[in-house]
Amino acid sequence: MYQVRNNGGIFFTLLLPFPTLCYYMRMIQFEEVSKRYGKSFYALRDVTFHIAEEEFVFITGPSGSGKTTILKLLIAEEKPTKGRVTFYSLNVHNLRRSDIPRYRQKLGVVFQDYRLIPDKTVRENISFVMEMLGAKDSEINENVRNVLNIVRLKGKEKRYPHQLSGGEQQRLAIARAIVNEPDILLVDEPTASLDKENSELVLDILKKIHELGTTVLLFTHEHIKLPHTRVIKVDNGSITHDSHSHKQ
Ligand SMILES: Nc1ncnc2c1ncn2[C@@H]1O[C@H](COP(=O)(O)OP(=O)(O)O)[C@@H](O)[C@H]1O
Ligand SMILES: [Mg+2]
Repeated sequence: MYQVRNNGGIFFTLLLPFPTLCYYMRMIQFEEVSKRYGKSFYALRDVTFHIAEEEFVFITGPSGSGKTTILKLLIAEEKPTKGRVTFYSLNVHNLRRSDIPRYRQKLGVVFQDYRLIPDKTVRENISFVMEMLGAKDSEINENVRNVLNIVRLKGKEKRYPHQLSGGEQQRLAIARAIVNEPDILLVDEPTASLDKENSELVLDILKKIHELGTTVLLFTHEHIKLPHTRVIKVDNGSITHDSHSHKQ
C-alpha cells in the first residue's frame, strides 16, 4: 500500500555517528559530472549537487540547458563523460547491465512524452509493471486503487490513453510511475503541455506524493513558484543557483 514511510526510525538515526548520518541522508550525488555528446559538445559541465531523502526539488532552466540529461544520467540511460553519479552508495554507472532493471525499480520516472502503452487501458498501463514483477493480484488491486485515488483518475480505469485528455494522460503516467512505491519520483516537464488549471492539479498531486514520503525531483523550464521549495537552476550545462546549497 502507498503510505507514509518509516525511514529507519529516530532511534536508529540518533545512534549513527554524524558523518554517517549525513551520508545516510544523501540519496543522490552528482560529483563533477560532465556529459559530452559527439566530439566536443558539452550538455553538462562539472555539475555537483546532492539530493537528500524526502526532498522536493525543482530543477529548472531554459530549454536545452541540460535538465533531461541529468535525468538520463540518473536512470542510467546515458553515461557521464566525467564524474560520478551515486544513488546512496551505489555508483550508478558501475552497475552491470543485468543489474540496471533492478536499480530502475527504485526510481519512478515520468517522461515528457509520457510513454504510455496505447493498446492498454488505464488500469492495465498501471498494473503492467507489477504483473511483470510477479506481484500478487490482491496487492496489485490495492496499489492500483490507491494510486488511482491519488492521481484522481477513479472511474476512468477502462479507458485507453487516446480517450484521455492531456492532463489525464500526465496523471496516468504519474500513477504508473508510483505504483511500485519508488524511493524517488522523477518528472520531466510535467506542466509543459497543460493549461493553468491542469498544471495546478498536477503540482498538487506531486506535493501529495511527496507528503506521503517519496522524494520528488521535478524538471521544468517554467518558472513555478512554490514557497519553501528547493530550486536548482541549470543554465548552459552548469548549475547557476541552488536555493538550499547549505545541504551540500
Ligand atoms: N543524444 C544527444 N545527442 C546530441 N546532443 C544532445 C543529445 N541529447 C541532448 N542533446 C543536447 O544537449 C543539450 C541539453 O539537452 P537536454 O538535457 O535535453 O536539455 P533540457 O532538458 O534542459 O531542454 C541540448 O543542446 C541538446 O540539444
Ligand atoms: Mg528536457
